[in-house]
Amino acid sequence: MTTIIERAPAKINLGLDIQGKRQDGYHDLEMVMVSVDLCDYISVSPLDDDCIQFASDCPKMPVNAKNDVYKAAQLIKSKYGIQSGVSLFLTKKIPICAGMGGGSSDAAATIRALNQLWDLQMSKEEMLEIGMAIGSDVPYCIEAGCSRISGKGEIVEKIDGHLASWVVLVKPEFGISTRTVFPEINSETIKRVNIDKIVETIEQQDYQEMVAAMGNSLEDISIARKPFIQKVKDKMMSSGADAALMTGSGPSVFALCQSEKQANRVVNSLKGFCKEVYKVRTL
Ligand code: C5P
Repeated sequence: MTTIIERAPAKINLGLDIQGKRQDGYHDLEMVMVSVDLCDYISVSPLDDDCIQFASDCPKMPVNAKNDVYKAAQLIKSKYGIQSGVSLFLTKKIPICAGMGGGSSDAAATIRALNQLWDLQMSKEEMLEIGMAIGSDVPYCIEAGCSRISGKGEIVEKIDGHLASWVVLVKPEFGISTRTVFPEINSETIKRVNIDKIVETIEQQDYQEMVAAMGNSLEDISIARKPFIQKVKDKMMSSGADAALMTGSGPSVFALCQSEKQANRVVNSLKGFCKEVYKVRTL
């Protein structure tokens, strides 16, 4: 029996800029995202019965039709008129409700895996379209890597450059739902981030300038709600990180470090302060 296992990496935002509210209630945004080697795995196997079975090793996560992995399978099955079934198993390593794009990456990995399992030969555009129907961060996760994302999240361009860095990721014990952060945006006062500058510095491989340009428009909103996020950032910077920033709408915070020694120092400084700390690398 064929089983396909697809890796679903987490992401961090090197930049997140909110440009304004759209007619459809969403926001036009620009982001720079990079994948890190903290990964979930989705395994897909064919079933003779025409149904979708879904299970996971993560007891905290609902494994029902509301899950983005299930939605991806359902959408593809009906769009391509697939008459057979599939069994999906999700191995979770990426914390949930963290701002690390775990759910979106799982859905994107499901799309890639089913494309292979059912030999659908989907074009990149078809995959992006299915991804967008599931969630705004899914299109980026289809190819992942280091990309610039714009529009609602549907415009994804690979950046011609590579960031090789150690990343210390902290997931605070509380979660923040993206849905509750966006309504608090005041377009007049929100902090803006120069995404062009971040992209340019990655292309030029100018790490120092990139670190200086990094920023997240949503950080102030999440910090006002959860001041612990600022405390984590401060600890990271005072223990020698090159940069410390919230990812997505939070609550996770990451530090960038050029050397492993520096990353170890940041990890040690967080002991007794945060339970969930990951030392990873950019992919
Ligand atoms: O698309 P997704 O369900 O991942 O988005 C979660 C929430 O984030 C939306 O309900 C919306 O409030 C907000 N959002 C937004 N503009 C975007 C992306 C997300 O306002 N471009």
